[in-house]
Amino acid sequence: MSATVSDRWSGEFAHDLSNMLPADPHSVQVRAAFNQFPAAVGAVCALVDGERTGLIASSIAVGVSYDPPMVLFSVRKDSQTWPVLRRAPRIGISILSEHQGAVCQQLSARGRDRFQGLTTESGEAGAVFVQEAISWLDCSIAAVTEAGDHEVVVFRVHAVSVAESANPLIYHQTRFRILQATRDG
Ligand SMILES: Cc1cc2nc3c(=O)[nH]c(=O)nc-3n(C[C@H](O)[C@H](O)[C@H](O)COP(=O)(O)O)c2cc1C
Repeated sequence: MSATVSDRWSGEFAHDLSNMLPADPHSVQVRAAFNQFPAAVGAVCALVDGERTGLIASSIAVGVSYDPPMVLFSVRKDSQTWPVLRRAPRIGISILSEHQGAVCQQLSARGRDRFQGLTTESGEAGAVFVQEAISWLDCSIAAVTEAGDHEVVVFRVHAVSVAESANPLIYHQTRFRILQATRDG
């Protein structure tokens, strides 16, 4: 007999306040809790001194504001790319599609040309977009705030392009996954 939703809540999904663990920095528990959060993956890219520059981020949050349209992402303070990338007047965010796991790995790799063989488009003000992504956001930096070992970067979105029938690449528990509709939906 298959388990009902309430059976599962009292079993494998049950939480217990008395078993909560301290959120120590770098602890396995914090990593596990954060890794349970599924995230879309974005390529944050621009032309800087004529060179395509970029990194991958799964910390992107959209709809931070709708008027004006704003999104944000969080970048490690030890990033070598961000201090260069942030000089661009416009920065492109391409939300990757479900078949772009290899693109994600390439654009986050160190010690190689991240853009080798990648088809991109560059806006007039320097935002760089990855082809076959599900959406493109043409952004400028509106605010930067410190957050522990990261900086939170808030972007103003100036222009968008959407491929509505395409599905996103999902990063969850350190693996790439694809979305599936539920029967309830
Ligand atoms: C799936 C995935 C998600 C990532 N998300 C972030 C992120 O949100 N913020 C961040 O600073 N780096 C993130 N990274 C790492 C960066 O893409 C990049 O590898 C890192 O910034 C080191 O390169 P850099 O020193 O050139 O910046 C992510 C990497 C992967 C593969």
